[in-house]
Amino acid sequence: MRFYLSTVLTVAAALVSAAPSPIRPRDISTNELSQFNFWVQYAAAAYCQPNYAGEASSKLSCVVGNCPAVEQAGASIFYSFSNSTPTDTAGYIAIDSTNQAIILAFRGSYSVRNWAADVTFTYEDPGLCPGCQAETGFWNSWALVRDHVVEQLDHAIAQHPGYELVIVGHSLGAAVATLAAADIRGREGGQPSASLYAFASPRVANTALAKYITAQNNNYRFTHTNDPVPQLPTLSMGYVHVSPEYWITAPDNATVRESEVEVLDGAVNWNGNTGTATVPDVPDVAEFDAHHWYFEEVDACLGPGIPFK
Ligand SMILES: *[C@@H]1O[C@H](CO)[C@@H](O)[C@H](O)[C@H]1NC(C)=O
Repeated sequence: MRFYLSTVLTVAAALVSAAPSPIRPRDISTNELSQFNFWVQYAAAAYCQPNYAGEASSKLSCVVGNCPAVEQAGASIFYSFSNSTPTDTAGYIAIDSTNQAIILAFRGSYSVRNWAADVTFTYEDPGLCPGCQAETGFWNSWALVRDHVVEQLDHAIAQHPGYELVIVGHSLGAAVATLAAADIRGREGGQPSASLYAFASPRVANTALAKYITAQNNNYRFTHTNDPVPQLPTLSMGYVHVSPEYWITAPDNATVRESEVEVLDGAVNWNGNTGTATVPDVPDVAEFDAHHWYFEEVDACLGPGIPFK
């Protein structure tokens, strides 16, 4: 890490003392849990090459068996994108006629471990709202595919009136999904009610942008136990989260129960994943086990030897 620990500790201590008094977290309902168990499968499907590089009209499928409900729904690819940009932003737009939904899914674009080890996170004005700043890498990942994706999304919406729009991603894909959702909801003629399911997302925004996205509503941002990825980029660098947080407390590889998902409010909330680092605001980037388990092994389609794991 290329910053000084003493500075971080001072900033972290200030943040701890400035933290608002905790609001009692609530558990989720059975209906919410089944929704989450379902939508995560679209994020899982984004890791499978036959989906992010698939032909239009072909059915989504997951060779490792982690998207059975998506397969059962018969969801088909409307548009897929990969290997067309320097950062290799990949994903798909799918049509789920069973659930009357259009899904925009993003795959993490490069090694999350390499990403976590490289702490040069710079800001850029995404032009979404006054004073808003987005993490440059994530914003550029979205910006590089934006025109084609939005054009195709408009076609998909025109052909499927009344369908809900759901934007999903896991890990770095969740970061891109979050900024895509902010943009797609806020643009002229956009979809203000689009839902976002962001699993294990890094922080993507400064306070103004996080507030803007939070106010758009329909945000489901998940973290799992002590996953370090949502603790990056750090608070001391000026990054905060979209609220609320759905903090999964179930152990790795275990079926998640309603009582094991706590809903926590705030751009900074020390009672959830943020508070699990051994040293406040210094994520333990050697501890990646929790990163893979969000109701299921989301990134299981990343087989051994695939470089971006
Ligand atoms: C969970 O599953 C993964 C992949 O199958 C495995 O590598 C890991 O050791 C498991 N963790 C636990 C706590 O069982």
